[in-house]
Amino acid sequence: MTGGTAAGLPLDELIRGRNPWEAALFDPNRFDLRSSVTLAKDDGTVAKHLPTDYARALTSASTVDALGPGAATVTRRGSRFVAAYRAETGELRTLSACCTHLGCLVAFNNAEKTWDCPCHGSRFGTDGSVIQGPATNPLPPA
Ligand code: FES
Repeated sequence: MTGGTAAGLPLDELIRGRNPWEAALFDPNRFDLRSSVTLAKDDGTVAKHLPTDYARALTSASTVDALGPGAATVTRRGSRFVAAYRAETGELRTLSACCTHLGCLVAFNNAEKTWDCPCHGSRFGTDGSVIQGPATNPLPPA
């Protein structure tokens, strides 16, 4: 919220035709050493999770039918990766396990009962709905 207010002040100046020095702080094209370190860290996270999570799901021995109430798994069904969750009521909910942001595999967060993406932090409900971005599209049913 503070950043939004701080960005609004130079934006007002820009609309009025002035060029405030603060505008450079919020320039979407700014790139410095600190942002390149952050970018490298984010890329490292994706590089770590993308192949290992897919390999784990490919070799997963868990079956959807064996899921007890409240349990979840990411596994493969044919050529598709499936995120399966069995609700306490016994209802089985199966979704695509591929995050709709950039395709990493989601993992079940048992404490929150959500599907979380380890790559950039998107979170989805057990019905696939987006709880938190950067993903904007829900996980489709599997
Ligand atoms: S791949 Fe980016 S949040 Fe999932």
